[in-house]
Amino acid sequence: MIEDKPRIIDLPKILDDRGNLSLVEELKDIPFKIRRTYWIYDVPGGEVRGGHAYKKNQEFIVCLSGSFDVVVDNGTESKTFSLNRSYYGLYIPQGMWRQMLNFSTNSLALVLASTDFDKSDYIFDYELFKDYNR
Ligand code: TYD
Repeated sequence: MIEDKPRIIDLPKILDDRGNLSLVEELKDIPFKIRRTYWIYDVPGGEVRGGHAYKKNQEFIVCLSGSFDVVVDNGTESKTFSLNRSYYGLYIPQGMWRQMLNFSTNSLALVLASTDFDKSDYIFDYELFKDYNR
């Protein structure tokens, strides 16, 4: 099922004196099947990742370490989500302009994606994105 709004999703959290455990199950905790997993790390201070949209790909972003912000824009309004714990993540439907920024030192972003990597799924031009979404 494809949702139309980005949203924070709280993940199961198994608390333990030995250390906590969280998990993501496809089609249960997140509304898509996981096709691809990648992570972003060693981001120099002040760098911005993204600044593009996907036509088909949906994503779920978890901050495994440190902190960063994700700005999600549907073409008419934008919303900033601050991620800084590993027991929740941000679901981003397809057709959203998104940027990741304000990475802290040693931050680690895990991205679960619904499609194979496909350069033609990207929209890199904000004006084209707005037309595409109209
Ligand atoms: P990109 O998606 O533009 O990263 P970001 O949104 O964080 O700025 O990808 C950066 C580079 O990595 C680009 O050359 C494409 C490549 N890449 C892959 O080869 N496979 C992948 O699954 C991803 C996400 C990126």
